[in-house]
Amino acid sequence: MVAVGAMSVVLRGLCFSVVLFAGCPYAYSQLPWTPIYVGQSQVDLWTRSATGCPCNFNTSSNDCACCVPSGGCSCGEALPSRCAQCGLDQHCTNMCNITLDGKQLFSKSGRGFGQIKSPYLEGPTKCTYKFIPDVGQRVELQIYRLLSIGRHNGTACEGGWLELEGGARVCGRNERFDRPVVLFSDKSVAILHMQINENTTRSQFLAYFSFASNASSSVGLPARGGKPVSNEVCDWEYDEKSCRKGCILTSPGYPGLYPPNTRCRYRITSSPRVTVNLNFTSVLLSHNHCTSDYIAVYEGRETTSSLLKMLCGNDRTNVVHVGSQLLVEFRSGPEVPPFNYNGFVATLSFVEITTEAPTTVTMESTSKTLEMIRSPSRSSHNGRYNHRDLHDHRKDQGSASCDLVVSGNEIRSGHHDTRGKLKSTVCRLNLRGRAYDTVHVSITSYNLSPVACKSMVEIFDGNLEARMIGSAKSLKRICSPAERLPRALVPVSKYIEPERYSSTGRDMTVILQRSSDSPADEEYMDVSYYFHDEREEGTQQPASVCDVEYYGLSSPPEGTVIHPEPHKLLTSQGPVKCRQHFIPAANQSINITVESSTKQASSNSCYTKCGDSGCQCVTKNRLDELDHLLLVSETGYVVSCFCGNYQEWLPVGVRSWTPVYIEWSRFSNAGLNFKAAYKFSEDPYCGDHTTKKPEGEVTGGNLASGEIKLNQYYQQKCTWILDSSMDRQLTIEVKSSQSRPCAAWNLTIHEYSKNGDPAGPKLYTFCSRDQHKNFTLDWKMNTAVVRLQALSRTPPQYTMKWRSDFVTANTRKSGPSPAPNHVTGSSSNIHDRHNHRYCAFSLTIPWWILMTFLRL
Ligand SMILES: *[C@@H]1O[C@H](CO)[C@@H](O)[C@H](O)[C@H]1NC(C)=O
Ligand SMILES: *[C@@H]1O[C@H](CO)[C@@H](O)[C@H](O)[C@H]1NC(C)=O
Ligand SMILES: *[C@@H]1O[C@H](CO)[C@@H](O)[C@H](O)[C@H]1NC(C)=O
Ligand SMILES: *[C@@H]1O[C@H](CO)[C@@H](O)[C@H](O)[C@H]1NC(C)=O
Ligand SMILES: *[C@@H]1O[C@H](CO)[C@@H](O)[C@H](O)[C@H]1NC(C)=O
Ligand SMILES: *[C@@H]1O[C@H](CO)[C@@H](O)[C@H](O)[C@H]1NC(C)=O
Ligand SMILES: *[C@@H]1O[C@H](CO)[C@@H](O)[C@H](O)[C@H]1NC(C)=O
Ligand SMILES: *[C@@H]1O[C@H](CO)[C@@H](O)[C@H](O)[C@H]1NC(C)=O
Ligand SMILES: *[C@@H]1O[C@H](CO)[C@@H](O)[C@H](O)[C@H]1NC(C)=O
Ligand SMILES: *[C@@H]1O[C@H](CO)[C@@H](O)[C@H](O)[C@H]1NC(C)=O
Repeated sequence: MVAVGAMSVVLRGLCFSVVLFAGCPYAYSQLPWTPIYVGQSQVDLWTRSATGCPCNFNTSSNDCACCVPSGGCSCGEALPSRCAQCGLDQHCTNMCNITLDGKQLFSKSGRGFGQIKSPYLEGPTKCTYKFIPDVGQRVELQIYRLLSIGRHNGTACEGGWLELEGGARVCGRNERFDRPVVLFSDKSVAILHMQINENTTRSQFLAYFSFASNASSSVGLPARGGKPVSNEVCDWEYDEKSCRKGCILTSPGYPGLYPPNTRCRYRITSSPRVTVNLNFTSVLLSHNHCTSDYIAVYEGRETTSSLLKMLCGNDRTNVVHVGSQLLVEFRSGPEVPPFNYNGFVATLSFVEITTEAPTTVTMESTSKTLEMIRSPSRSSHNGRYNHRDLHDHRKDQGSASCDLVVSGNEIRSGHHDTRGKLKSTVCRLNLRGRAYDTVHVSITSYNLSPVACKSMVEIFDGNLEARMIGSAKSLKRICSPAERLPRALVPVSKYIEPERYSSTGRDMTVILQRSSDSPADEEYMDVSYYFHDEREEGTQQPASVCDVEYYGLSSPPEGTVIHPEPHKLLTSQGPVKCRQHFIPAANQSINITVESSTKQASSNSCYTKCGDSGCQCVTKNRLDELDHLLLVSETGYVVSCFCGNYQEWLPVGVRSWTPVYIEWSRFSNAGLNFKAAYKFSEDPYCGDHTTKKPEGEVTGGNLASGEIKLNQYYQQKCTWILDSSMDRQLTIEVKSSQSRPCAAWNLTIHEYSKNGDPAGPKLYTFCSRDQHKNFTLDWKMNTAVVRLQALSRTPPQYTMKWRSDFVTANTRKSGPSPAPNHVTGSSSNIHDRHNHRYCAFSLTIPWWILMTFLRL
């Protein structure tokens, strides 16, 4: 009966963890509590059923308890209906004053954990339990049930208590702890005292114990790097040398209850040109007891030094300090029921002051340190304990927690599969990006079995643990029952790419909530993620899989771009198109040079041919069904196309004053490789110009300085809007010394069009073989558009002059033709111009694209 009761306590504890999570994720995430025993359908930990098995003390009876095959031993005649852990079976009826030797217990039962069920005792009385851990083990105790074991009077336990020697006292008249009271001991022998000082009739407690590996990811000893100060209970010294790999400070007994009325001092010494970075990553001190339970950080060696920071409750902070001495003082007052706090963890790192931004470096070392705790090296000090870990019930469920925190400093992409991890009811994937990161995830596969949304996967935009409640927005919730098979199990024709979700800021959280921690068929999620640095890798476009934009003013002015890496697509095969846009600001040009292709991708079905009109993809197939690369101008004009083995044509350059993009198309599984350099430059050559001269001149071919190389390509598309506020007759004179086909380059004169492309209906065309021509426009055609287009091996060479004639007699008969929008800025000057009696013409070149193909 007692055993069943205990089990229900365990299960209630688990349920509570879910409830608590839903209401208060912060507290949940801070209390690392891993149940030692997870109930199954049996009587207790060691008893499968109360009757039905042969008795070892009476061969003719089949009425004894059936024990679990591994580690369970019959209690014998004393208690035929029960089994106990082998090695403790002689204590079935009187579990008091016993010794629990980790090594022995393990050799007898194959388990490094078990249960203590004290007998019903009449007080006053006492029991002691002696735990002898093996090398590399710590003792963990989880107390679930107290019956007539003293009471707490507000400052101390009165009349009785449980105390893991040197730690907190736990007491209560009739307590079932929804979340067990957790205690840890790191001594070579840990003694648990049950002390009853008053008359009682039935005093009892129930607890689980575990000899946990000090290297365990969930219950191991996180503290590292400090040297204990002799003769002091919990004073430590830290310095740079011992913290090369990062040090960790913890309260005593972490992650268990810390001892009451304690003072611990952690002294940190560094050389002067070093930044000390102390990050309190987890703080949970007893609530509302800030005057007695606190952490104080002093700038110096003693508490008389000036106070830098004070923490209590669950304040978390990061202290960055430059100076040679730092003192962290941790103080605790009396224990406080319901004993639901566990102290603190702080990572400590030293960063030499260099030109590098210290925060970045520090965060890096911090997360490295955390990583080290989470994944203790495989070459562990003692192979036996790895073996032992396998037999620990917890470890049977998988080696690592299903929670994962990924720091964008360390890891830029990956995937997290909760299968093979601890089967907690809640698994959270916290993706924490760097300053300019956005996070992108897709749930590549999952299985959620129960009905009515009892299990779910939910994706949040933001960090759920951040202080601002409600700041994390739910992007997607997948409710059970639901399933998505991994790609490998789906026929190619039926496979649909998973949706991608993107964060608005640097953090993202994905949570799997399971209705049970021991699901019959495994419920899981497999999440692919990557971090995208907006600054370095362009601004990711929310709607597309992989389109990015580089802006002339906000992106780094120069850099390198490559083909999209497979993880960025969150899909490993199938057709994808990605565009990398380059958007120069006014008076800027963008220079892109496709430099190399790291992989030779020869293809029989398509090859690249560069000629007088740029590079082309030569194929009989549809281009959409081939891996290829395009250089495209803003208007959609394909400047160049590459496919097959195009390496021999490289480098190919593009210079443009308006946006250009590289479009990478993957049809096969691989896709083409490329590497391109880009550079935004201040370059007013083709920018916005306004001239107030009534006449002017433009000379082309300036760019073609030096000799003309064999495989050089030019594309130019320049537009001039010649506008006047006064009626005039405009004459445009064009000259060229070249004699090239009209298709290679030409200059056209258009009517002005207000909407869209300013070049309206075409009036005249000048081809280079025309040599020299005068175009006289109609009277009062005050706004005209001249456009030059070229795509040629040789740069166009020309001179374009314009001249205005005014006939004063007619000027006031009708108003001027409408001014184009482009020059409305100067229309406010019309009045001035009239007053000053001179005529002005704006020469506006708002849209001029020039692309240069270079074959060097
Ligand atoms: C052994 O068990 C049988 C059947 O339950 C019972 O009849 C018998 O009395 C038992 N013997 C002893 C010595 O307890
Ligand atoms: C346990 O041992 C202590 C002395 O070591 C003794 O006083 C106490 O009565 C014992 N408890 C029981 C229940 O036998
Ligand atoms: C675990 O214990 C072993 C043996 O005492 C020790 O060498 C090792 O440093 C400990 N590990 C941690 C993380 O404290
Ligand atoms: C609580 O119990 C402790 C220990 O017996 C005693 O010293 C203290 O005075 C008590 N406090 C109150 C408020 O009763
Ligand atoms: C406790 O029990 C003893 C013996 O039964 C008795 O003498 C004593 O008075 C009781 N103490 C209290 C406080 O009831
Ligand atoms: C401190 O640690 C937390 C939790 O690991 C982390 O999110 C934060 O970025 C760290 N802060 C610094 C400045 O390293
Ligand atoms: C672009 O350059 C021209 C000429 O140098 C200048 O007049 C104009 O103000 C510049 N425009 C911008 C937006 O910087
Ligand atoms: C464009 O970049 C290439 C390679 O970086 C360089 O060789 C070329 O001179 C640049 N062109 C211009 C106009 O800046
Ligand atoms: C074009 O006009 C200019 C100036 O009026 C004149 O000098 C030139 O000869 C004319 N050219 C042609 C080809 O008519
Ligand atoms: C003018 O030149 C462009 C670019 O070279 C070309 O596409 C267009 O067909 C040419 N126009 C004429 C009328 O030849």
